Amino acid sequence: MTGLSHIGIATTDIEEAAKTWLLLGFQFVHTTEVPDQKVKVAKLRYGGLIVELLEPTSDDSPIKGFLDKKGPGIHHLAIEVDDMEHKIDEFLNSGIKMIDKKPRIGAAGKPIAFIHPSSTGGVLVELEQD
Ligand code: CO
Repeated sequence: MTGLSHIGIATTDIEEAAKTWLLLGFQFVHTTEVPDQKVKVAKLRYGGLIVELLEPTSDDSPIKGFLDKKGPGIHHLAIEVDDMEHKIDEFLNSGIKMIDKKPRIGAAGKPIAFIHPSSTGGVLVELEQD
């Protein structure tokens, strides 16, 4: 484990949601679309803290499902790991429930894997290989 990569926040409108973060001193890094996740991602940075605003691009987007169920707010925390495959094995052996038992490629083109919220007290945790 090396540190916090970013906090993912679900929103219905990136432009609208970004206004407050920009006022807080955050700056836009970039905006990308992840067709795989049916989501538009705006990355904002404030010092070492990165927030990713996530807006669904389709009604069957997982982010749309989250918004319908819980409303806008924190969707996940992302933690950087050195050796993804090793970490996943370690976690599985410790009885941690993984959504992804194998790494897949995330928004930043890096390997990612999600831990199931049932293993983390209701928090969706993303592992991201740096
Ligand atoms: Co993320």
